[in-house]
Amino acid sequence: MTGKTTLRLAARVSEIQPSPTMAVMADAMRLKAEGVDVVDFSAGQPDFPTPQHIKDAGEKAIVDNFTRYTPNAGMPELRKAVTDRYREDYALDFEPSESIITSGGKHALLNLMLTLVDPGDEVVIPTPYWMTFAEQVRLAGGTPVLVPTEASTGFRMTADVIAPALTERTRILLLNFPANPTGAVIDGSEIRALGALVEDADAFFLWDDTYARLMFEPPPAEAFGEVQDRLDGRFVVAGTASKAYAMTGWRIGWALGPKPVIEACGALQSQMTSNASSISQKAALVALTSDQAPLAEMIAEYKWRAERLRAGLLEIPGLSCSMPGGGFYLFPDISHYLKAGETSTDLAAAMLKEARVAVVPGLAFGLDGHLRVSFACARDVIEEGLSRLVKFFAARAGS
Ligand SMILES: Cc1ncc(COP(=O)(O)O)c(C=O)c1O
Repeated sequence: MTGKTTLRLAARVSEIQPSPTMAVMADAMRLKAEGVDVVDFSAGQPDFPTPQHIKDAGEKAIVDNFTRYTPNAGMPELRKAVTDRYREDYALDFEPSESIITSGGKHALLNLMLTLVDPGDEVVIPTPYWMTFAEQVRLAGGTPVLVPTEASTGFRMTADVIAPALTERTRILLLNFPANPTGAVIDGSEIRALGALVEDADAFFLWDDTYARLMFEPPPAEAFGEVQDRLDGRFVVAGTASKAYAMTGWRIGWALGPKPVIEACGALQSQMTSNASSISQKAALVALTSDQAPLAEMIAEYKWRAERLRAGLLEIPGLSCSMPGGGFYLFPDISHYLKAGETSTDLAAAMLKEARVAVVPGLAFGLDGHLRVSFACARDVIEEGLSRLVKFFAARAGS
C-alpha cells in the first residue's frame, strides 16, 4: 500500500461520524491496559456480570450444538418471550409476528430507520441525545430535527417543548427514555400528550426503551398501552437485552411494530446480517422468561449510586445536576469550570490526564458545558472518583 491514490468512498459514509462515546471508552481502556489507575465513569454498560443462569443458557446452547442459523427474524420462542414481556411490563400488545430479533438495540433502530425514513422525511429527536440517532437518520437519507430540552427542567421532553418541531414532513418522533445521557423519564400524562401530538402529525412514535427496565419509578403501564391503541400501528419500539440483563456483548435486541414494518425490517435484515447469534438468542430467552426479581435489586443499587454520586457532585461549588429517573448516567453542568475557549471535550481530556477520571464530554451528546458521568461502577469506585473530582475542580478554581 503506497497510500498515493485517493480512495473514493460512497457519499453515504463520508459524512458519518464514528461513535464519540466509544472513542472515550477506548482511551480509558488503553490507559487501564497500560496499568494506569483510571476511575472509569465513562462506561455505557453495567458493571454487573451477565447473571449466571443466563450464561449457563448460552453455554448449554453451544454444548447442544445450537450453533446453526435460526429463522432470520429470530427463534419463535424468543419473539414470543419478548412480546409477552412487553405485555406484562408496559401493557403493549404486539403479536410475536410483530417482533424481530436483531443483533443489539442499535441494529433494531437501524432496521426501523431504513424501513420508515425516506429522503426528505424528518425525525424529531429531543436533545441532549445519543448521537447514533442522528447518524442513523442521515444514513437512511432523512433529516434529524434536534429539539433542545432544558437543564432547568431536568431535560424534560414534554409535548409543549416538542410540538413546535413537528411539521408535515415529520415521519418519526423518537423518544429515548430514560434518556442517554440525561436519565430524563417521561411521566404517564406526558406520554399520552406526546401520543396525541404524534397522532395529529400522522407520524410514528418510536420508543427507544434501552434503559426502560432500569427506571426508578416507571410510569403506569397503561399509558403506553393507551398510546399504542390511539396510534393504531404507528407505535414502534427498539429494545435490547444489553443494559437490563447486563448482556452488552451478546448483541441481542428487538424491534416491535405493526406487521408490514416488521416484515420489511426482516427483508432488510435477511440481506444484511441474517439472524442474531443463535447462542445469544438462547441466553436472551432465559433472561426474558426467568424471574425478573434480580432486576429490582439492580435498580435499587443504581438508585443508591445515583443519589450518592449526585450528592457528592453537588458538594463541588458551581456544579448542578438533576436526579435521573433511571439508567446509570448523571449529566452535571460543569460550565462554571470552563476556561475561555474551552469545551467540555477539553475539560474531559484534562480530567483524564490530571485526575485519571474518565467521563464523556457533553458535546458527544450535542450539549456543551456538561459531562456524562456513569455510575455503572462499584460504590468504592464512586467514592474514589468523587474525591479525585473534588481535588480536580478545586485545583481548577484556584488556577
Ligand atoms: C439510547 C441507546 N439506545 C440504544 C443503544 C444500543 O444498545 P445495544 O446495541 O448494545 O443493544 C444504546 C447503547 O448505548 C443506547 O444508549
